Amino acid sequence: MNKIIAGNWKNNGNIEFIKNYFDFFLKNKNSNNQIILFPPDLYISQVHSYKVEKNFSVGGQRINSDGGSTHTSGTTSEMFLDNGCDYILIGHSEIRNLSDQYTYSAANDLYNSNGLQAIFCVGENEDSKKSGNTCDVLKKQLEDLCCKDNYPVISSKKAIIAYEPVWAIGTGNTPTIDNISHIHRFIKTYVSENHPFAKEKDIMVLYGGSVNSKNANDILSAPNVDGVLIGGASLDVKEFTTICNLKI
Ligand code: 13P
Repeated sequence: MNKIIAGNWKNNGNIEFIKNYFDFFLKNKNSNNQIILFPPDLYISQVHSYKVEKNFSVGGQRINSDGGSTHTSGTTSEMFLDNGCDYILIGHSEIRNLSDQYTYSAANDLYNSNGLQAIFCVGENEDSKKSGNTCDVLKKQLEDLCCKDNYPVISSKKAIIAYEPVWAIGTGNTPTIDNISHIHRFIKTYVSENHPFAKEKDIMVLYGGSVNSKNANDILSAPNVDGVLIGGASLDVKEFTTICNLKI
């Protein structure tokens, strides 16, 4: 079955990097997996210029329309759509963690994501994992996705959730394959029981956190895993292409 292989470049890359990346990627990619790249917002149209038919999709990393149309800085869903994006990351832990600077609301970003398919990120931190609270934390985060009042979510085709344990991001540590599978099952059940419209078949769960070309095959082959969201390893085009070309 085809999987989603998503690469989140975070705040990395420049014009030369992008040129070299696609010189290699477009020659060597030979898979039917669904590939999504999340470049830094300023390089979205640069990356989009390499898109031919459905060879890959482009996504935005962050909607920021807090201040309405009279606010300095910010990127709206219309701007992402105008530049060729189909996807938007919402609730990435690195954004949720900014809440000491301002109150972050995933529900607000979902509300503003109209027309873009959200990839809704959830994940527990190390303390919650140690104290056995993973599922409670995930439930709390998933409430924003399932909230019946978030009407734009209803216009979204699917519910795509990325399970990214905070303690696994950029650390080289990953949960066991059984754990990933078990938590993805929990997420699918919770969302199918609480989401206003998504049925089991409309729900995809990606895993993110220290995915690389060595562990990707095992993770992608696990029950309930519909894809991966890759940070660091997506910046290495050979590594990323190897993962994209896996046949699961
Ligand atoms: P790493 O793959 O570098 O751990 O990052 C995961 C991530 O945050 C993807 O959104």
